[in-house]
Amino acid sequence: MAGKTLRVSKIRKGTVIDHIAGGHALDVIKILGITGRAGGAVTVAMNVPSKRLGMKDVVKVEGRELNPKEVDKIALLAPHATINIIRDYKLTEKKRVKLPKVIRAILKCANPACISNSKEPVQPTFYVDMEDPLHLRCHYCGYIMEKQDVLKQF
Ligand code: CTP
Ligand code: ZN
Repeated sequence: MAGKTLRVSKIRKGTVIDHIAGGHALDVIKILGITGRAGGAVTVAMNVPSKRLGMKDVVKVEGRELNPKEVDKIALLAPHATINIIRDYKLTEKKRVKLPKVIRAILKCANPACISNSKEPVQPTFYVDMEDPLHLRCHYCGYIMEKQDVLKQF
């Protein structure tokens, strides 16, 4: 393969979200609210070869670092992703996203009849029954939220 690898250019400053499962880059772009109209360069590579995943997607966002809430959201839909922070062309931080066993606060139950959607003061709480494909079980009503339910809320 030497000489046949197509390389996406390095960025000067920003975030590289690497090791996204092949075909999921657009989910990550949606989570981050990237429209392409903010001015910064956004590079997306889809279905490129990866030793670890077979095929992977990569999203590079110039001039932006992610906040912890954004990282948690990425963990929901790209549980194997690596977040690389780049400053002055140098890799300054690398972290794997991590999906906790219990998820609070970032999601609402998709079951309209769930008590967590009523006026009761209960905090939405979900158990991660399965990571891939995603199955989140509501603590209150047992409803299983899947990727599509989650994406609708972001
Ligand atoms: N990267 C970039 N711009 C830079 C530095 C790095 O876009 N100035 C990208 C690289 O292309 C790579 C990711 O950031 O996709 C992580 O960089 P690095 O850790 O150097 O690459 P790998 O060793 O391949 O990462 P890993 O071990 O996580 O697979
Ligand atoms: Zn519920």
